[in-house]
Amino acid sequence: MDKLRVIGGAPLHGEISISGAKNATLPLMAASLLSDEPLRLTNVPALADVTSMLNLLEQHGVEVTNDASVELKAGTIASTTAPYELVRKMRASVLVLGPLLTRCGQAKVSIPGGCAIGTRPVDIHIQGLQAMGADIEIDNGYIVAHAKHGLKGTDFSFPTVSVGATENLMMAATLATGTTRLMNAACEPEVNDLARCLSAMGAQISGIGTDTLVIDGVDRLHGADHCVVGDRIEAGTYAIAAAITGGEIELLGADIDLLPTFVGALRDMGVVVASTTRGIKVSATIDRLSPVTVSTAPYPGYPTDLQAQIMALACIAAGESQITENIFENRFMHVPELNRMGAEILVSGSTATIQGVSHLKGAEVMATDLRASVSLVLAGLVAKGETIINRVYHLDRGYERIEEKLAACGAQIERISEQPPLREVI
Ligand code: EPZ
Repeated sequence: MDKLRVIGGAPLHGEISISGAKNATLPLMAASLLSDEPLRLTNVPALADVTSMLNLLEQHGVEVTNDASVELKAGTIASTTAPYELVRKMRASVLVLGPLLTRCGQAKVSIPGGCAIGTRPVDIHIQGLQAMGADIEIDNGYIVAHAKHGLKGTDFSFPTVSVGATENLMMAATLATGTTRLMNAACEPEVNDLARCLSAMGAQISGIGTDTLVIDGVDRLHGADHCVVGDRIEAGTYAIAAAITGGEIELLGADIDLLPTFVGALRDMGVVVASTTRGIKVSATIDRLSPVTVSTAPYPGYPTDLQAQIMALACIAAGESQITENIFENRFMHVPELNRMGAEILVSGSTATIQGVSHLKGAEVMATDLRASVSLVLAGLVAKGETIINRVYHLDRGYERIEEKLAACGAQIERISEQPPLREVI
């Protein structure tokens, strides 16, 4: 398994091109199942999760052309089953449920397992599809769904804001009979990007960007060309890389309007964040940043996917910071690893209290989930000495060429590829 080796201390200077958003790309790829015509996506990031979704769609019968852009053509659906061995690799596989059900009248999708950050149930996805007339049962770890007369439009209010459930139900509603109103819907930029793509495919959707989506079902959707929105979480991650090292980085292609609360938190700490014609420029020149109080919430609140990253920054702020995680029940896996690097973090329930220290110390640490992993890289960039981050495959799921992008700004970072132990020949 690959590792990353980081030598801390270098202020980062330069520019980083922001890739297409992982969390937009995955639902957009699932949307290809809704039409028998090609959906062509550009600005698709080269990530392990994207490869996993391509593999899943191919076994459903989607013809994939993956070159400068990714073209997906679901001319016919060869299988409406999403098997466990593919779904377990990536939870977002559940996003094929709504498209398969509304196009084919049936779907059998393995229940995605939990992950390091929580149990990650899909009960709201199921409730919403049942409200649209689907018959759904759980059988041998699979969601087995039927809608032999097709799905019907309905009014559905989400009991809690769910990005994935909003995306699944919005896609299902595009081909349902009648009108579907989704209330308390997620309005993350990635959800809005999916809605814009579905509209380009001929779906009738209003309320895009708000928490109430109204979808008038149509008989069929046609193909489209769509450019994936930039990854605001990647942009936020590298913004913190600039801040934590006391450098300056221009994030090319980043959109400051997609990170309102996050930018506010950085500015509260004394980080300079400015919109430019090419993206966002981030710099930190003062010696010690101020502490921060953050509480994660659905968009436009503070993004849970940037919680671990700002915690790494808070570790070296001048004072006490408080970070409360309200979205997932176990998203502090980075805390013990940061403490091994000399941080002083105490967790009580869903709140972490961070006493800023003058410096962190390099250590060998373990990545547990995507965003916890990158917070350890950020800490390593500023820690004194060497940090080794194990299990880098977590990072490769969501960050395209992270060591190249950071090294190009002056980071001392390298990937150590570890060959699996050779079996002794007896
Ligand atoms: C999406 O996950 C993202 N993943 C996550 O990013 C992100 O953290 C999350 O939204 C919140 O913004 C993708 O888009 C592929 P949710 P999703 O449904 O859709 C509960 C990353 O690091 N819930 O909005 O799975 C759930 O347990 C990943 O890139 C139910 O109870 O998240 C959580 O507490 C991590 N029942 C809350 O809702 C359900 O049926 C929000 O989850 C669905 C969700």
